[in-house]
Amino acid sequence: MKRYIMAPGPVAVDPHVLSVMSEPLIHHRSPQFSKILTEVRKDLKFLYQTNNECLILTSSGTGGMEACVSNLLSPGDKAICVVAGKFGERWSELCQSFGVKNIDINIEWGQAVKPEQVEDALKAHPDAKAVFVQAHETSTGVQHPIKEIGEIVKKRENTVLVVDAISAMGVYDIKTDEWGLDVVVTGSQKSLSLPPGLSIVSVSDKAWEFVKRAKSPKYYFNFLKEKKAVERETTAYTPAVSLIIGLREVLKQFREMGLKRLFDHHKRLSEATKKAVSAMGLNQFPKVPSHAITVIEAPQGINGQDVVKILREDYGITIAGGQAQLKGKIFRISHYGHLCQWDMIIAIAAIEQALNRLGYQVEYGKGVSAAQKYFAQNP
Ligand SMILES: Cc1ncc(COP(=O)(O)O)c(C=O)c1O
Repeated sequence: MKRYIMAPGPVAVDPHVLSVMSEPLIHHRSPQFSKILTEVRKDLKFLYQTNNECLILTSSGTGGMEACVSNLLSPGDKAICVVAGKFGERWSELCQSFGVKNIDINIEWGQAVKPEQVEDALKAHPDAKAVFVQAHETSTGVQHPIKEIGEIVKKRENTVLVVDAISAMGVYDIKTDEWGLDVVVTGSQKSLSLPPGLSIVSVSDKAWEFVKRAKSPKYYFNFLKEKKAVERETTAYTPAVSLIIGLREVLKQFREMGLKRLFDHHKRLSEATKKAVSAMGLNQFPKVPSHAITVIEAPQGINGQDVVKILREDYGITIAGGQAQLKGKIFRISHYGHLCQWDMIIAIAAIEQALNRLGYQVEYGKGVSAAQKYFAQNP
């Protein structure tokens, strides 16, 4: 069976990138590798649209999130967490793990936070040292208004804005410096189109002052040690050499494409899929959807997990179901990773077929033709 991966991470990786990663290993403390690291760090700044240093950590995205909490804050500090899904919950759980008092802005899943809610929370808790939010909440497919939140937080000297852009960076426009995003986290297996294992964290000058004062316990994830290592063109500990070599290749491709074309590519896949969803008579779950993924509500009487199972086991296509309270209620298709318009057509055709098998009548080709039309009209 031919296999396709179209889940919101891990994602399909370009075979060329995989082949580059499988070349004989080079030593991490060699001039050869230092050169690669320097090139990757430069290209990361291009992708992040920042002059801030981008630290490369060996972990999944959650490691990068944890590093933000432990490196920016001290036990007893207060932080505001936007909790609009599974990954927002993670911010607040991480704060609790480090003795940071979490002030949660609880948002109904499927909705985005309003900038005024962040402003009100900061007015009620002017001593909050950080605001933690997702750029894109992958569990619901919602895009949060990061730019507007940046405008609010940047006026406050004693608060930093920390953005989890694990499924957003490279998918759509995120202007780290212009929007005042102090700390931005990504992970390799999502929008960076690589296998899992890397987390990247950019840190602003304002945030470095917080790092110097933070007293939370830490050893492995230590921003100050990593910063010193950057000055020596290396990393504090043995890095994931092959993944960094893969990242160099991905970033080279992104640079050659240019950011606008990269964002337009995701928008195109997303808009075509969303047109197909309406044509099939289905609803999107998020009220403020992003171009990173399409999240579809399972029709009445159909368990979304069954759609995911049929696609994976019978058709060879991996998409994702819902998490926690959304389990069974939704299914999710990624637009990031090494995907093209034909992959979307395949996913839509498979969904039409699976839904018919489960008793939801969709005329064959309804979704496919809506997507095809969109692709043809938007070359
Ligand atoms: C927005 C977001 N944040 C955090 C994570 C957690 O990342 P990881 O699974 O790489 O630890 C994910 C992964 O799904 C994510 O999509």
